[in-house]
Amino acid sequence: MKAIVTGAAGFIGSHLSERLLADGHEVVGIDCFTDYYRRARKEQNLEAARSHRNFSFEELDLVDADLTAALEGADVVYHLAGQPGVRPSWGHQFDRYTRDNIIATQRLLEQLKGSHLKRLVFAGSSSVYGDAEAFPTRESALPRPVSPYGVTKLAAEHLAHLYTRNFGIPAVSVRYFTFMQALADGEPIEVFGDGEQTREFTYVSDAVEGTIKAAAADVVGMVFNLGGGSRVTVNKVLATLEEISHLEVRRESLPAAPGLRSTSLASDWDGSPASRCAKAWPSSGSGSRRAGVERARPPRGPATENG
Ligand SMILES: NC(=O)c1ccc[n+]([C@@H]2O[C@H](COP(=O)([O-])OP(=O)(O)OC[C@H]3O[C@@H](n4cnc5c(N)ncnc54)[C@H](O)[C@@H]3O)[C@@H](O)[C@H]2O)c1
Repeated sequence: MKAIVTGAAGFIGSHLSERLLADGHEVVGIDCFTDYYRRARKEQNLEAARSHRNFSFEELDLVDADLTAALEGADVVYHLAGQPGVRPSWGHQFDRYTRDNIIATQRLLEQLKGSHLKRLVFAGSSSVYGDAEAFPTRESALPRPVSPYGVTKLAAEHLAHLYTRNFGIPAVSVRYFTFMQALADGEPIEVFGDGEQTREFTYVSDAVEGTIKAAAADVVGMVFNLGGGSRVTVNKVLATLEEISHLEVRRESLPAAPGLRSTSLASDWDGSPASRCAKAWPSSGSGSRRAGVERARPPRGPATENG
């Protein structure tokens, strides 16, 4: 199978690429190295995939590059490229969010019209839920983002759905819950408010597994939560990281910011759409946050909560 991974130099995209290569697939990674965090970190993310003979990389910007050659013969496109981060999405940086989350997605969808694609998996976000009223939050909850970032991720998700309905592009969306890449290079971790807000943290290999399953199951046109299964406070996560690593987390205390939710928790499986493709759902890290942290490889991406 030939898979395209957009955002391949990013945190999740690089892990996904490695896993697809390990499974024997041909992978074309696309990324334009936005400056949200250092290019050197992204190059480091790509190192393992680049050493694989079935991997090729195209430095392309989805918004203005000609994608024809890069997408040629693709069976599955995993669209992870985007501009993450809740807090910076306010104010003048919103342009960047509309560009890399909405316009980039629309351009990619246009390009895929009429192709023989078997599946497009779009990387959505739990931030579309905003301050959802029910926890765990089911996919059927009315999305009502509380950040401009969440608005752009929801718009992109709707675009994917539109192109499924109108042009038959076989798209499915997965809504990732929070990841935290910590202790990297001793960089500070931003803690908003008192750190007692809860999040559903997800081990990246579980997110990768769920993403791959979304490409294979009979779920076109659907949306899935992909989360770790339980919530924990930001303070607790940092304390666990310190305990395990024997390193001190450098905290940068910031006031509670607009758009940051007080809590997030994905659906349990019973009755949720995820159950349709979850028969062989992994148990690799979901049950234990501690195990997830202990198994973590050298951290990638920004040392912050991306939403
Ligand atoms: N990390 C999280 O906590 C989290 C949570 C929910 C959703 N998500 C979503 O998952 C996806 C991947 O997140 P991540 O943490 O790996 O982010 P990341 O910033 O590490 O990776 C995203 C990559 O996309 C690339 N990119 C951005 N705009 C592009 C464009 N126009 N053309 C080509 N490449 C472009 C960037 O250079 C970057 O390498 C994003 O879409 C994000 O919104 C992430």
